[in-house]
Amino acid sequence: MSRFVLISPSPEFAAAMQTAVDGALPGGVYTVATAELPEQPEQIFALLGGVRPAVVVLGPGVPLDGALRLATVFDVRFPDVAVLLVADADADLMLQAMRAGVRDIVSPAVEPHQLRIVLQRSVQATEGRRRDPEPAEPGTRRGRVIGVFSPKGGVGKTTLATNIAVGLGKTAPMSVVIVDLDLQFGDVATGLDLDPEHTVTDAVTRAAAQDSMVLKAFLTLHTAGIYALCAPRDPIEADGIEADQVGRLIRQLADQFDYVVVDTAPGLGECTLAALEECTDGVWVTGMDVPGVRGLRSSLEVLGRLGLLPETRHLILNMADAKAGLSVRDVEATVGVPVDVSVPRSPAISYSTNRGVPVLQSPRRGDKASSALGEVVERFTPEGAARLRRKLHRRVVVS
Ligand SMILES: Nc1ncnc2c1ncn2[C@@H]1O[C@H](COP(=O)(O)OP(=O)(O)OP(=O)(O)O)[C@@H](O)[C@H]1O
Ligand SMILES: [Mg+2]
Repeated sequence: MSRFVLISPSPEFAAAMQTAVDGALPGGVYTVATAELPEQPEQIFALLGGVRPAVVVLGPGVPLDGALRLATVFDVRFPDVAVLLVADADADLMLQAMRAGVRDIVSPAVEPHQLRIVLQRSVQATEGRRRDPEPAEPGTRRGRVIGVFSPKGGVGKTTLATNIAVGLGKTAPMSVVIVDLDLQFGDVATGLDLDPEHTVTDAVTRAAAQDSMVLKAFLTLHTAGIYALCAPRDPIEADGIEADQVGRLIRQLADQFDYVVVDTAPGLGECTLAALEECTDGVWVTGMDVPGVRGLRSSLEVLGRLGLLPETRHLILNMADAKAGLSVRDVEATVGVPVDVSVPRSPAISYSTNRGVPVLQSPRRGDKASSALGEVVERFTPEGAARLRRKLHRRVVVS
């Protein structure tokens, strides 16, 4: 029986692994001498006659991206199989590997006796996991669904959505997912500097809709400890995505994550309406311009009449500028609701968009844009919400 599987084109490493296991550890090694990684764990199990190995070693020569993705799939679907990565790891890779659920990283030059110890430790850990109770049934957990909306384009929806997700990721690591529902021209991937292998197109397939673990394997892990589901690469794919698939997708994610942050396209398209129906929180964004503010008022009126407004409303005035010719009071009077947070116009924000690193990933003390975005995030944390209740009614000031 093979308890260890090695995937690697390197005969030297295969020999080292054989020496590490032979006569010292129970079970044998099954080597797949290729640099091509399988998409799904089941392809590996099939090689072993349907049996799950204890440890899968992703050896030298396999693509790193694919290895981390496969490790994530194992972590979410088969946590009783340990995945080891063979690579020269720097701190960044260590972090990514840890987040992907890799059990350990070993150097390609590891000595067989050291490798034996790592393998033994991994087997012990997986045996512990095999005895653990099954994870909770889906449907038992309902996360907060925070949708970011505006009738007009370019007002800062994606900026807010990415910062909310990254900010929440700090208090709830690995429990936040951001979904880009600007299906045609979404730029969450750019805003987070991601090159996703899978997108919403994969996430609404029947396989993913029927199995939340498959869905989770289609998410992209971001270095800030959040997951992202990015918009399709080709805008044409957006046509094939139906509103009811979007609704189901959000419900599925809310069953698995504490927070689902949804970025949307401008306006009230069908997918945006489907998202609105699932949201616990609506973050409404407007700039300081009369057409934008009026557009927001009409949208809120229509949605209110249709009963489509999420339970909790947050009005964010973005690119606030004392010289815009409108005051906060003007905005509030036109929209008919108070402004909750005012985010100043700031070069730090446009710079962060261009770098693909949200401001809140490395906030600067004393920077007004960072603190305003932090204030938005706080509205969704339990401590922040309590604080908010205490200082309710305090007015925002545009300086
Ligand atoms: N407070 C701000 N100060 C300066 N620039 C900002 C601010 N907020 C957003 N921006 C910049 O404005 C541009 C548009 O922002 P963003 O992409 O977030 O808007 P959007 O509403 O998502 O746009 P779209 O409707 O096209 O999706 C970006 O380049 C962003 O960096
Ligand atoms: Mg956008």
